[in-house]
Amino acid sequence: MRIGVLTSGGDCPGLNAVIRSVVHRAVVDHGDEVIGFHDGWKGLLECDYRKLDLDAVGGILALGGTILGSSRVQPAHLVGGVERAKGHVADLGLDAIIPIGGEGTLKAANLLSEAGLPIVGVPKTIDNDIASTDVTFGFDTAVTVATEALDRLKTTAESHQRVLVVEVMGRHTGWIALHSGMAAGAHAVVVPERPFDIDELTARVGARFEDGKRFAIVVVAEGAKPLEGSSMDFKTAGTDIYGHERFTGVANQLSVELERRLGKEARPVILGHVQRGGTPTAYDRVLATRFGWHAVEAVHRGEFGMLTALRGTDIVMVPLAEAVETLKTVPEERYAEAQSVL
Ligand code: F6P
Repeated sequence: MRIGVLTSGGDCPGLNAVIRSVVHRAVVDHGDEVIGFHDGWKGLLECDYRKLDLDAVGGILALGGTILGSSRVQPAHLVGGVERAKGHVADLGLDAIIPIGGEGTLKAANLLSEAGLPIVGVPKTIDNDIASTDVTFGFDTAVTVATEALDRLKTTAESHQRVLVVEVMGRHTGWIALHSGMAAGAHAVVVPERPFDIDELTARVGARFEDGKRFAIVVVAEGAKPLEGSSMDFKTAGTDIYGHERFTGVANQLSVELERRLGKEARPVILGHVQRGGTPTAYDRVLATRFGWHAVEAVHRGEFGMLTALRGTDIVMVPLAEAVETLKTVPEERYAEAQSVL
């Protein structure tokens, strides 16, 4: 068989582990040929690729980023993009494509699958918001990085009797905020699923100082917003060149507001892309490796239009169409559980 693999969307620790696993299973065990498209769907649209053999994937298991490069280009965004992708798959004699990506990539994969291409998707995102899988690789690494940062920030916050408002990634969902906040014992967690009440948040942080504590750590997901009609002015940062909302501001705005209301020094800390860079944790390497292995097996069974997913401890296949329907958001019970132990 001839299989094409690509990584698309925001990078994520564990992508290289998937690529390596696909090559090991396909080339070594099945005698397949694997090619890797450069920079996501862009590589397929421009026929820009390279052959992937064992040498090409040697030593990449623990490497962050993606050896293939990534981009946010999607076939449907370009005039004639879907037809061009189909044409290149035929010209290159590909029997299957394994796109590794998050929400946007999987939507594109589903569209191409519906257009007749043989696709088996692999989910990835540090945000952990893909509904069909219990966990996505990259999430554990991002939570570990954020937790280490929060642990460090506690000592400087305490020295200066400050409020630190720490912004973590999570455009639509607050999984990284929730888990890192719980793991580090932060004092408040603010997630996009639950617009925050600035009066309630101020009271919560203020109560710590009234209790004689010297500092407070607030973890806020980048996509969090105040309640409609809230007494806090809130500005979003416009859109990027793809028309996606920019998230560069909630920690700044919250820290200014909390400082003003509490009369305590407050500082914003934006962790940003450090959460996505560098080596994946052991958990993420194993999950990514299993996804790659099972994607190749699905290709050999001819199970197209499907996505690898973790359910409990098993890897199962779920329809791509189902996977792109909704996002997995933080449920109210998980939020309440965290609030009571922060
Ligand atoms: O979806 C993964 C993610 O890291 C989000 O948490 C974040 O909002 C976004 O990507 C950032 O994307 P970019 O790298 O394009 O700034």
